[in-house]
Amino acid sequence: MDLTIRPEAPEDRRAVEELAREAFWNHHVPGCDEHYLLHHIRSSADLIPQLNLVAVLDGRIVGHILYTRSWVVDKAGSRHGTLTFGPLSVHPDHQRRGIGKALIAHTRDLARGMGHRAIIIYGHPGNYCGSGFKSCAHYGITDAQGLYPSSLLVLELYPGALDGIAGVFAESIDFQVDPGGLEAFDRGFPPKEKAVTPGQEEFFINSHSFVQPDVQR
Ligand SMILES: CC(C)(COP(=O)(O)OP(=O)(O)OC[C@H]1O[C@@H](n2cnc3c(N)ncnc32)[C@H](O)[C@@H]1OP(=O)(O)O)[C@@H](O)C(=O)NCCC(=O)NCCS
Repeated sequence: MDLTIRPEAPEDRRAVEELAREAFWNHHVPGCDEHYLLHHIRSSADLIPQLNLVAVLDGRIVGHILYTRSWVVDKAGSRHGTLTFGPLSVHPDHQRRGIGKALIAHTRDLARGMGHRAIIIYGHPGNYCGSGFKSCAHYGITDAQGLYPSSLLVLELYPGALDGIAGVFAESIDFQVDPGGLEAFDRGFPPKEKAVTPGQEEFFINSHSFVQPDVQR
């Protein structure tokens, strides 16, 4: 597979939003909002432009990843910088061929070279443990309620990167987009039918599950 990974150019934006819509449509809920989120997050001060990349196959954009700044806030209130990717999209015609993994590996190496310490995401463990992500419970990193979501996953970018760092994971506030604008935004795309799918229940279960604290650390 002759896959090229390169920075997203301004003229790619519409194709990338269409790609995200195709990848996420009916995936987590009927319809999706990831293309809308992507549209807004591009203008966030927390966006890392060097880590906003597309994967191109036979001249067509088939994958996309972008990163924003995130933090682990410790008990004293100090904010320790981390990175978060998402939405991560691979076109349904090309999923499960290693493109998502290639985008993660490529950006992981770039992020390491830029001096970042860790990547922390919410995601399905089955998609990410093979890329080295581990449960937040191993690191004492929790959600705002002090719990360890099964979907909160951590990748240290060098050994010991998170030694001495524990606390509450915080994403960029720019992810809090106005849901009221989604419908009008979506009307700018070709009509697509919303449906209830079994995968949405699987997503609900996974995203509402928690693991026990890891007592070894
Ligand atoms: C999730 C997604 C980004 C993964 O990209 P991909 O190119 O399809 O995945 P890859 O082929 O690189 O596989 C990555 C890992 O995920 C697993 N995986 C991918 N799709 C899967 C599926 N539908 N069910 C179970 N496992 C899956 C692979 O087995 C692989 O595991 P391994 O590393 O242990 O071998 C892509 O499928 C996608 O865009 N899905 C729809 C949107 C989405 O869910 N985005 C992520 C939100 S958390």
